[in-house]
Amino acid sequence: MASSSSNRQGSISSVQTENRTFSPSDEFSKKAHIPSAKKLESIRKKAAKNPVEFWEKQAESLEWFRRWNIAFKWKHPVAEWFGGGKINISYNCLDRHLNTWRRNKAALIWEGEPDGEIRTFTYSQLHHEVCKCAGVLRSLGVKKSDVVAIYMGMVPEAVIAMLACARIGATHNVVFGGFSAEALRERINDSKAVMLITQDGAFRRGTAVNLKQAADAALEHCPSIKHSLVLRRTGGEVTMKAGRDHWWHDLMRGATSNIAAEPLGSEHPHFILYTSGSTGKPKGILHTTGGYLAHVAYTTKTVFDIKDDDLYFCTADIGWVTGHSYIVYGPLANGASVLMYEGAPNFPEPDRFWDIIERHKVTIFYTAPTAIRAFIRWGDGYPLKHDLSSLRLIGTVGEPINPEAWMWYRTMIGKNKCPIVDTWWQTETGGIMIAPVPGATDTKPGSATFALPGILADVVRKDGTSCEPNEGGLLVVKHPWPGMARTIFGDKERYKETYWSNFPPTKEHQGWYFTGDGARKDTDGYFWIMGRVDDVVNVSGHRLGTAEVESALVSHPYVAEAAVVAKPDELKGNALVAFVTLKANITAGDLNKLKEELRNHVGVEIGHIAKPDEIRFTEGLPKTRSGKIMRRLLREIVAGGVISGDTTTLEDFSVLEKLRGDEE
Ligand code: WT7
Repeated sequence: MASSSSNRQGSISSVQTENRTFSPSDEFSKKAHIPSAKKLESIRKKAAKNPVEFWEKQAESLEWFRRWNIAFKWKHPVAEWFGGGKINISYNCLDRHLNTWRRNKAALIWEGEPDGEIRTFTYSQLHHEVCKCAGVLRSLGVKKSDVVAIYMGMVPEAVIAMLACARIGATHNVVFGGFSAEALRERINDSKAVMLITQDGAFRRGTAVNLKQAADAALEHCPSIKHSLVLRRTGGEVTMKAGRDHWWHDLMRGATSNIAAEPLGSEHPHFILYTSGSTGKPKGILHTTGGYLAHVAYTTKTVFDIKDDDLYFCTADIGWVTGHSYIVYGPLANGASVLMYEGAPNFPEPDRFWDIIERHKVTIFYTAPTAIRAFIRWGDGYPLKHDLSSLRLIGTVGEPINPEAWMWYRTMIGKNKCPIVDTWWQTETGGIMIAPVPGATDTKPGSATFALPGILADVVRKDGTSCEPNEGGLLVVKHPWPGMARTIFGDKERYKETYWSNFPPTKEHQGWYFTGDGARKDTDGYFWIMGRVDDVVNVSGHRLGTAEVESALVSHPYVAEAAVVAKPDELKGNALVAFVTLKANITAGDLNKLKEELRNHVGVEIGHIAKPDEIRFTEGLPKTRSGKIMRRLLREIVAGGVISGDTTTLEDFSVLEKLRGDEE
């Protein structure tokens, strides 16, 4: 049972235990880029001694117009990687492959939602489209360092637009197509974008979401925008404002494709991506060029073990950092074939992903725990209907994966043969930080395993001392890395305060990055992420990560998903309230009896202190667009039902209404 920790300051009690381990098969390891634990260990050791040298070596596999002269410069908390170097990301993702056999290889295979339409772009074709789009941007007056907002669905043109910006040194600001007009307006104005690229509508779960209408509403109060470019996708009615709005197909038709990739400084701003903070205003996370590409190219190769004959399918949306780093930049820099799907996983039926995998013979599949829990909820019949034997590697990202969901993923999707890469990272980190290397690392269900070579992660107490094995603490990174965010756009004070003020420079070190997550390392050194420290609850003097209580609930055969939050309690300090969704095929009968059964189940799995005081059954949980449960909203609901903070990242508002309704 529980390896419970001491009560040292800043420590978090951990009650989760997981003893199963899974090794990669010899067959997988033999062919992998990094084929053994021994090899990985020697790379990791060397990189830990000199991370800068390690990352220089990775940067050398990119094509530079001019080599850097200072690999790394640090003035807390401002980093510069590969200073003096000149590079272009679009060149590295496209042009570089044109002189090789890859020029006629599929770069992007796209499948539309409504009728399964398929469009394939070879590297050569994608290059041509990107050059023309870059020509269009130039013709509309977009210059190097201008910000271009992109508000689109999952269409190939979104990728083309991103790469076109990168080609001419414009900084893109992709705003998730599920955001409202108000959220779009705020993100355009904060970034001072000069142009918007959007589309008439986007197909999602059988309906057309009208993006242009939302864009029009937003642009009424966006003085910085001069032009907008509108892709026709659904054919729905739109109003085009003369002088401002232009059809994509009109301008692309006459565009020059003679646009060379602009040599950009390594620290040139590549993109801004907004992510919600714990309160108030969203943060415009800024990423730059050379270091970012080195990080995402290396991690794509190492963690996904990507090879030329792979077909790689990442289900993230392009409006989220996973879409940026692991649909577009990492895979294309590696010359890989990427499958991109426009729509929802349950359209027309809940087996759409499995159908796609079977028809296209996908080999690598990367998705989120929230999606996996939905698959479990929909039932095993859907994956069992399909031949998934082409898969050789599967991955997850976004939140801690409950061990039971991990086991389901391994058995039902990976057929007990595919390694699972549980990848821990953040919008701010740019790329993957903690993850298995699939041919080398033994995995444990629910653990992201170890920090990658060149990433110096640790779990520490508030005073900066390292935690003992199994003692929960704060997850930090002790040396800057090339893909790290450089600032919060327009707010360097907030950047410093949020990430760099908990562990400022001392005599011994140059300042550590605080991730905001709680974690522990087990006796084998495996990292177990316990969720955001804001989600740590103090019950009767024990600091518990709510993620662990949730995992215990999800391990009950009736439960699909659970979110646990605290409610102030006079006696215990905090009482635990669990929101629980049941699997689709469950008719629970007496709900009060089931509540008792679930409480007892947690008691058995973890112990008495973790038993939820209250269980509420719900149809769904409020989530961010990237699938994270918004526990902050649940906390506000249990505290009195008033939602005050920022809800612009919330995916499905109706869920919130229902949760509130339940209470009355
Ligand atoms: C937060 C970052 C990185 C792209 C997706 C989300 C949580 C992410 C894992 C994982 C446990 C995870 C953390 C992190 N998280 N991946 N594999 N295991 N937790 O990006 O929206 O910036 O969120 O997501 O809490 O801090 P993001």
